[in-house]
Amino acid sequence: MPQLPLLDLEPQADDVVGECTAAMRASPRQLPCKFFYDRRGSQLFDRICELPEYYPTRTELAILHEHAPAMAARLGPRCLLIELGSGSSVKVRKLLDELVDPVGYMPIDISREHLLDAAGQIADAYPELDVQPICADYAQPMTLPEPTQPPQRRVAYFPGSTIGNLHPDEARRFLARVAGMVQQGGGLLIGVDLRKEPAVLEAAYNDAAGVTAAFNLNLLHRINREVGAGIDVDAFEHQAVWNGEASRVEMHLVARSDQHVALNGDTFHITVGESIRTECSYKHTLASFASLASEAFEVVDVWTDARQWFSVQYLEAK
Ligand code: TRP
Repeated sequence: MPQLPLLDLEPQADDVVGECTAAMRASPRQLPCKFFYDRRGSQLFDRICELPEYYPTRTELAILHEHAPAMAARLGPRCLLIELGSGSSVKVRKLLDELVDPVGYMPIDISREHLLDAAGQIADAYPELDVQPICADYAQPMTLPEPTQPPQRRVAYFPGSTIGNLHPDEARRFLARVAGMVQQGGGLLIGVDLRKEPAVLEAAYNDAAGVTAAFNLNLLHRINREVGAGIDVDAFEHQAVWNGEASRVEMHLVARSDQHVALNGDTFHITVGESIRTECSYKHTLASFASLASEAFEVVDVWTDARQWFSVQYLEAK
């Protein structure tokens, strides 16, 4: 395997104790969702993506499969593709198969080993492609290196509807930063999950096999492992509820009995029925997303599936 030139921007290690303590003090209580993805959490998430109820991954892949040629035409020749949170770099292959003379692929991920591994596989599969892995937290501002050849256009790729895990004001700030990264006339190809029947949404986040429950509860296991918190994980249960007014699925951990949680020298009393919110997954309409993005981007193309459950959109930076 070729040795790739890793650009290591040395992302700050997470302060799990500090951030969790602060979040538990908030009212209502909240735990930061970025802590889901430790080794065990990432494995569970991979299983979520295969669940019959979890439609987003397979719907997005089907849209990519069907429309990758149109997307590649929209991105144009000689583009520089920058993937935000590249993980295993699976979905991007559908695009790379179709792009005309791309000047480079820059996968950005916070997990160094996973990044190098995935980038190496892409470099192997696309020997002509200039692959520049960047280890960084894509949520933080950064300066990208120049590709070896000047690109016709910079395009950020952000699949998975991860944008839905940001609250609207966070999403707007994030999109403004991405627009700066790709520069005026540059693009963003983004996966956006769409509003649909509550029953479908709730099932997607509360599967019959209990994998999503295990994923949510793993957050408490992680805090125990990394902080020695001694939380009685069995005393909590996973709950996913559709909040129609806010247009989001909310993930909670609900206490089955009164609990004392000791963290970082503080003790938190949690009463039976009280919940800790762990994540929100906003579901947009095509109109609400266009409006959310409108300060920084204009939506120029939208590809969806027949049921209009998911969308892949191409936005141009203003
Ligand atoms: N980005 C995913 C989503 O919003 C994350 C996710 C899927 C998730 N299932 C979950 C997060 C369950 C917390 C709990 O669809």
